[in-house]
Amino acid sequence: MGLERTLSYQFIKKTNLSLSRLGEREIYLEPASPYKSYPQAERIELKIKEIPETENFFNILAKRRSHRKYRKYSITLDEISLLCFSAQGVTAKAGYYLLRTAPSAGALYPIETYLAVNYSEEIKPGIYHLEVKTFSLEKLMEGNFGRILRELALGQAFFETASCVFIWSAILRRTLSKYGERGLRYIFMDVAHICQNVLLAAEALGLKACPVGAFLDEEFNEFLGLDGVEETVIYMATIGK
Ligand SMILES: Cc1cc2nc3c(=O)[nH]c(=O)nc-3n(C[C@H](O)[C@H](O)[C@H](O)COP(=O)(O)O)c2cc1C
Repeated sequence: MGLERTLSYQFIKKTNLSLSRLGEREIYLEPASPYKSYPQAERIELKIKEIPETENFFNILAKRRSHRKYRKYSITLDEISLLCFSAQGVTAKAGYYLLRTAPSAGALYPIETYLAVNYSEEIKPGIYHLEVKTFSLEKLMEGNFGRILRELALGQAFFETASCVFIWSAILRRTLSKYGERGLRYIFMDVAHICQNVLLAAEALGLKACPVGAFLDEEFNEFLGLDGVEETVIYMATIGK
């Protein structure tokens, strides 16, 4: 089969920017709110007490590797705070926009961060949503869901032994309403920036991480209560020691 017939090629082709079609729009979508929160949820304030001294940045880059063997390590709230800051911490304000540690196409920030905590003595195991505006975790479910996470990640055993798992979803409308179908390209770039920040931060903190793209999409959405249309899970990273 020729590559031209694949959905992937068609997508790239149809979302190319070209001078002859500049300004043409194939879809019109209402924008979505740039912030998500669970107002009823119990919340845990995240705090960066102090920025820790770490190894030289270039050594961290050289050392980063995907690790999948973790011991039962109780992750601290300080570590979680620094990892969440690396993912989506607000670092500046530009009018209406809250600029963050990771770049985002059009500063539209289509990515939401969920955190599954398996092992921690400082924060109850459970599923949390990161509320970016207040830099807090909103508790969605309590309990150790390691076994379920492992099943939803196609049996990848390290989901159960990880101290925590970052789960990133995309609110497609935030970006597609500005960029049309091409916006999907940007959404995946956005999430990769966020994930890489977390992978490097984990290394800097003496933790280990693994990015994960293989999981059961529909089942993961259902588990988190996401509809899979407006918001859908797209990427993850396990963190452990
Ligand atoms: C988009 C993406 C998806 C990935 N998905 C998985 C995965 O589902 N399971 C896994 O064990 N590793 C996954 N990885 C990690 C790769 O296997 C790993 O990055 C690669 O083997 C290179 O090794 P390194 O990260 O240690 O440099 C993924 C990496 C990327 C970038």
